[in-house]
Amino acid sequence: MTPFKAVILVGGEATRLRPLTCNTPKIMVPVLNRPLLEHFVDYLKTHNIIDIVLATGTSPEQVQDYFGDGSKLGVRIAYSIENLPLGTAGAVKNAESLLDDSFIVFNGDVFTDIDLSAMMRLHRENKATASLALTPVDDPTIYGVVETDSQGRVRHFIEKPSWDKVTTNMINAGIYILEPGILSYITPNTFSMFERDVFPLLLEEGQAVYGYPFQDYWIDMGTPDKYLKLQHDLLHRYIGNKGTKFEGESFVHSLAQIEGPAIIGEACFIDRNAIMKGPAILGTRCRVEEGAVIQGAILWQDCKIGRGAKLRNCLVASRCCIGEESEILDGCILGDDVRVEKGNKLSNGIKIWPGQTIEPGTISS
Ligand code: GTP
Repeated sequence: MTPFKAVILVGGEATRLRPLTCNTPKIMVPVLNRPLLEHFVDYLKTHNIIDIVLATGTSPEQVQDYFGDGSKLGVRIAYSIENLPLGTAGAVKNAESLLDDSFIVFNGDVFTDIDLSAMMRLHRENKATASLALTPVDDPTIYGVVETDSQGRVRHFIEKPSWDKVTTNMINAGIYILEPGILSYITPNTFSMFERDVFPLLLEEGQAVYGYPFQDYWIDMGTPDKYLKLQHDLLHRYIGNKGTKFEGESFVHSLAQIEGPAIIGEACFIDRNAIMKGPAILGTRCRVEEGAVIQGAILWQDCKIGRGAKLRNCLVASRCCIGEESEILDGCILGDDVRVEKGNKLSNGIKIWPGQTIEPGTISS
C-alpha cells in the first residue's frame, strides 16, 4: 500500500489549556516529560507514516527549533505556515502543494491508539473520498455526532443533538483520511472547517464519505482535566501501578517515600520525609523539600516545592516556586514562573497566569 502522508493541525489558539499554553504551543506540551508531538511521531512511525506536514500558525519557531526537519526522529517534517488562522479545512488547503496522494489529517490534540493501518485499508476497500474515525462517547449531546448506515456510509452530521434526537453516540474523532480531490471543495485563503463547511457539502454532492468506528484509546487532551487524565492513564499503562521511572541521576533521601506510578525527570532532588504519591510526574531539575507532598500532580521542569507544601491533582508549568506549607489542590493550574509565597491555599481549579506572584497569606479557593 502507498504510504500516506499525515497532516497534523497545530495552528489553534489552545485557549482551553491556558495558562499552560501561554508560552508553550499545545503540540509541545509535555506528556510523560516529552513533547506531545514526539509521541505522535512515534505512533505514526508504527504505521509506517514518515512524511508529516505540520499545519501551524504564525509562530512555529518552538516546534521548528525542537523538531527541525524530523530527521533526528527518522521522519520528514514539512511546515505549512498560516499568516491568519484558516480553520481546520483552510489549513489543509494551505498545505495543498505538499499533498499529492491520499493523506491523513489529525487534530493535533488527539492522543489515540486507533489502528491507522486498518483504517487505511478500509478507506481503500470502500473507495472512499473521505473516511472519518468515529469514537463512542457517554454524552453525545455536547459533540457533533455522525450517523452512518449499515454499510458504514455517513448519512448525517448532527451538531449537539438533544437527548430525544440522539440516534448514535459515535462522534467525529478528529482523524480523517482524505483524497486530494477534496481540496477542490475548499476555498483558498479563507477560513473553513471540515465539520461545518466541507463534509456536509461532500454529502450533498453524493460523495463516498465513510465512518470508521473504533474502540481504541482516544482522548482530546485540549482541556486541563483531559491533559491530567491522559498522563495518569499513560503512567498506569507504561510505568505500572507501583513503578517509578528515573530518567537520569536524581537524589532521593532515604526517608523520602515514592509510591508509583511516577516519573522523576533528570537531576531532581527529593528531600527527607517528602512524599510522592502516583500517578505523578516531576520534570527535570525539580526540587521537593523536606516533608512536601506531591500527589497526582504533574510538574514541568525546574519547579521548587518548599518545605511541607502540598500539591494534589494539579498542573504546574516550568520554573514555579511553591512556598513553605502552601497547598495547591484539585484542578489548579499554574503557568510558567509562578511564585506562590508561604502559607497559601489554592483550590477549586484556580488558574494563575505566568509570572504572577501570590503574596504570603493570600488564601484563595
Ligand atoms: P481551543 O482554543 O482550546 O479550542 O484550542 P484549539 O483551537 O487549539 O483546538 P480545537 O479543538 O479548536 O482545534 C482542533 C485542532 O485543530 C487543534 O490541534 C488545533 O491546533 C487545530 N486548529 C484549530 N484551528 C486551526 C487553524 O485555524 N489552523 C490550523 N493550522 N490548525 C487549527
